[in-house]
Amino acid sequence: MPIHGLDPALLAAPKPPHFDIERVIRPNIQALHPYRCARDDYQSGILLDANENALGHAIPRSGGTEIDDMLDVDLHRYPDPAQVEIKARLAEMRLGARDKHGHVFLGVGSDEVIDLLMRVCCVPGKDRILTTPPTYGMYGVCAQVNDLEVTKVPLRVEGGAFQLHVDRIKDACSSDPSIKLIWLCSPGNPTGTPIPLRDIKEILEFPGFNGFVVIDEAYIDFAAEGSSAAKLATEYSNVCILQTLSKGFGLAAIRLGAAIAHPALIQVLTNTKAPYNISTPSAMLALQALSPKGLEGMRANVKTLTTSREALLREFATPAFTQLGVGASLGGNSANFILLPILNRQTGEPDSQRAARIYKSLAEERGVVVRYRGNELGCAGCLRITVGTAEENEVMLKRFREALENM
Ligand SMILES: Cc1ncc(COP(=O)(O)O)c(C=O)c1O
Repeated sequence: MPIHGLDPALLAAPKPPHFDIERVIRPNIQALHPYRCARDDYQSGILLDANENALGHAIPRSGGTEIDDMLDVDLHRYPDPAQVEIKARLAEMRLGARDKHGHVFLGVGSDEVIDLLMRVCCVPGKDRILTTPPTYGMYGVCAQVNDLEVTKVPLRVEGGAFQLHVDRIKDACSSDPSIKLIWLCSPGNPTGTPIPLRDIKEILEFPGFNGFVVIDEAYIDFAAEGSSAAKLATEYSNVCILQTLSKGFGLAAIRLGAAIAHPALIQVLTNTKAPYNISTPSAMLALQALSPKGLEGMRANVKTLTTSREALLREFATPAFTQLGVGASLGGNSANFILLPILNRQTGEPDSQRAARIYKSLAEERGVVVRYRGNELGCAGCLRITVGTAEENEVMLKRFREALENM
């Protein structure tokens, strides 16, 4: 059955040749005729088609605050369902060409795209996904919501390496054709470790797996140049890269995430999404963020945060911390956080109980909230600390030392 709105020529000669999208996307989704509205055909005139409120909103102006500018926007109209300009700017930034906007899908944060990918590919109660713990928790949560079992192929965790077991991933997929999605996170959360592109390509080209390989690049802006797999989406039909404006761009509040993939998958996601998922205020802010000046500002902020990350790593490696039982950081340190093991002061071994006590004392007695990750695979005793502002980092280091001294 042809995928609605898709030029069948786009399905000819996929790379890799074994990949068949029509065996991955659920039949009910392939058959879907997306929601249509009159505005798809007519955008001007007296618009009495969508049951909007003709009088507009009634939010009072407060006089001179930034929100007043926003109140002049057509907030009573439904937003543009296509948002082509945002997609074109993302395509230019990530793929080097505006006209590749057909490779981009926009979601309400990457969290919406994570759920949508499971819904379009996996039959509840039947299909499975594969994850590589330790990893981002939402893959498991969305799998459970969608009634999907999870096959776990842990990362190689020894010494905080956090690398893929490519052969084990291949074995798991070839012995279970119900696995439809492989979830990789690069740089990983909580590992901060980028996945080498050669490992990703090896999985993409493995003929024993006919599904999508999803690479979640939420933290990619903090990693070294050349770490992103985004450009593979213009070459391979079976890869989907997730990105977000929540991290490098500092826009977690506007909820804007993106999938970058072959136009066939983008068409399927577009057919399935709620028609007006990206709000007009979010779209306006995203366009500004993706303007030349916005990009310049984002890159400057990323530079400041990565410089602070390195300074924090140096500080935690000094005797002032190591003598109090802070171990060498784990993982690749290529995101806007660091992962630190707390050690037992007698044995020198990672100590999750001590880490949990420090976590609680930091939050409840010292006003600093970090994340306890001691229960994650390969992360015994670990706390994950987001890089803050210079002032926040300074206070955090001081309070951290106090907490270490006291427990
Ligand atoms: C790996 C990873 N992916 C996705 C997300 C969610 O991003 P968004 O804000 O775009 O939904 C997060 C948030 O922490 C994350 O760590």
